[in-house]
Amino acid sequence: MNPSRRPLIAGNWKMYKGGRTGVELAQACVAFARDLPGVDVVVAPPFTALAAVAETIEGSAVTLSAQNLYPKDEGAFTGEISATMLVECGCAWVIVGHSERRQYFGETDAFVAEKAGAALAHDLLPIVCVGETLQQREAGETLRIVKQQVDAFLDVIARSKHAVAVAYEPVWAIGTGKTAGPAEAEEVHAAIRAWLEKKDAALAARTRILYGGSVKPDNAKALLGCPNVDGALVGGASLDAASFGAIARAAAS
Ligand code: 13P
Repeated sequence: MNPSRRPLIAGNWKMYKGGRTGVELAQACVAFARDLPGVDVVVAPPFTALAAVAETIEGSAVTLSAQNLYPKDEGAFTGEISATMLVECGCAWVIVGHSERRQYFGETDAFVAEKAGAALAHDLLPIVCVGETLQQREAGETLRIVKQQVDAFLDVIARSKHAVAVAYEPVWAIGTGKTAGPAEAEEVHAAIRAWLEKKDAALAARTRILYGGSVKPDNAKALLGCPNVDGALVGGASLDAASFGAIARAAAS
């Protein structure tokens, strides 16, 4: 395996764990990450906890991600946060195009690509999310939809030398307790790898493709064992250090 495809386990805290509880969770992540030198552990707290968590994880193996950004450097954009601000805050990563943002905030494929480009322009690594809805899966449209989402940002990530991550998160598996089975996940991950490969072999070799959607300690090993699953983007289970640590340990084994 290409060394840039070390397992990456990222915790998307969503709109949970601001303030003190976020710092405590980050401390617990620092503790388990110490014993897992072969796994990249990333935490993505809400904006208001970024600075405190950055201080907590300083000097540790845990790295920091934001959950979103606005693709302008600065300006009159009330309530928005730029890539530069995230870098200043200690972020190495930023999640873009999460299905919750696409669904509730109307983010389009083009806007997601613009965000990925803005992140890369500031050496911030995007974790770009893709995934189909239940209706799309049942209509047999999974690969067509995911390809359309990937195609929108393919040029942007191919132009950069940075190793980005793509997260395949079937919308029907997020927060529902339903997961894609390992074979279902691998089918989509292998397709994504093939699209990247067609664009640029080096891009395919350095891009980590994460699975997300109800990843738990008891299903992590099977999912992470798939040849094209390079890690996980974990929601609910990342809010509990014991569960998140168990998922990271599954990635190490
Ligand atoms: P759950 O792990 O809670 O299903 O969330 C997945 C997710 O959306 C991570 O970004």
